[in-house]
Amino acid sequence: MDIDKIRSQIPTCQRMSYLNTGWSGPSPVRVVDAMTKRLEYESYEGPTSQPVLESGEKLRLETREAVARLLNVSPTEVALTQNTTEGMNIVMSGFPWREGDEIITFDIEHLSVMVPCLYAQRRHGARVRSLPLGTNDDWDTIVSKVEEALSPQTRMVVFSHIQYSCGLRMPLDDIRRLTKDRGIYMLVDGAQTAGHISLDLAAAGVDFYSIPAQKWLLGPDGAGALYIGDELIEMIQPSYVGHSAVDTSKNPVEFDFSSMDKFRVSTTSSPIAAGLLEAITFIREIGIDEIEARNTELSAALKAKLLNIPGFRVLSPLEGPGVCGLTSFTIDGTDPKKMVQRLWEEEQIVARPVAHPESIRISSDFFNTEEELEKLVVALQRIRG
Ligand SMILES: Cc1ncc(COP(=O)(O)O)c(C=O)c1O
Repeated sequence: MDIDKIRSQIPTCQRMSYLNTGWSGPSPVRVVDAMTKRLEYESYEGPTSQPVLESGEKLRLETREAVARLLNVSPTEVALTQNTTEGMNIVMSGFPWREGDEIITFDIEHLSVMVPCLYAQRRHGARVRSLPLGTNDDWDTIVSKVEEALSPQTRMVVFSHIQYSCGLRMPLDDIRRLTKDRGIYMLVDGAQTAGHISLDLAAAGVDFYSIPAQKWLLGPDGAGALYIGDELIEMIQPSYVGHSAVDTSKNPVEFDFSSMDKFRVSTTSSPIAAGLLEAITFIREIGIDEIEARNTELSAALKAKLLNIPGFRVLSPLEGPGVCGLTSFTIDGTDPKKMVQRLWEEEQIVARPVAHPESIRISSDFFNTEEELEKLVVALQRIRG
């Protein structure tokens, strides 16, 4: 991987030390160009001229195909969304809940997981069981917690494949093994995975999986994708409907809920889809396995540096299959929010504070360098005083 060349294609890298891909990744020029080109084309060549309409449809199809390749699923199982949270809501709101159904999730989950679960409880009488999760629990411990919590009422397990607060990568396959034969559904938030680690949803046998464009894929805000396994598409009722939910060849119209098109509702942005498509192409050209290896290697190097400094405490897993490119830590006697603010003001380093558990989170993405991580560690020690 030619890091210098890659960094030269991402303008943010020339302006600052950007260590916050887990919130939103910096786009390479070609992603921005793809969006600009499409926007200009639509705006100047007649938004409803035949070539613009036809190429817009083609673009959306190609984007679904690109997502499908990234996740190793079929394009017919993919809907384009606006973000991860929308995908989570499509499933949680459209699922045929029954009074007394249990939803299993974890107490340190992102609100995009937690709130849709609580809303299903409020609206549909499902019951949320939120299991305690340690930021560096090992996989056996996590699997035991889930196994112990399962009951005849358990209807769905909902969790993030990578925990946003600490980068704990969850044992997807093991949890699937526990749930599949019991007929328990599995909805997974992939906000921190797409473009970060290699994904094979067909092999994992997950039911529902939602991803964004703007994080590790380095795509634009306002794009994402939802995967629903073929045989489950019909079961998820759309919460909003528009022309794409009906068979317009029939009069009076008939609902057709057999395809992912039902979730499209109405007009969407082709320039944003063009950004997602180009972002996936960029990431796949570099190679997702290589990216995953480098992200993990960088975070291991960072953890090793942090562990050497008295008063620095790493919350993320240090080894084993639970590691990835996210590292969360605390520094005794300091406030993470203030530290993150000073990192920006004094060193142009972008990090983020996490509220639960309170910590500083660093995203090491493939375009980051060892030198940036060293600069971060030196700056943290200086600011702490
Ligand atoms: C685990 C997790 N889920 C959901 C989200 C929200 O993502 P989106 O803005 O794509 O809905 C985030 C973003 O920070 C996240 O880390």
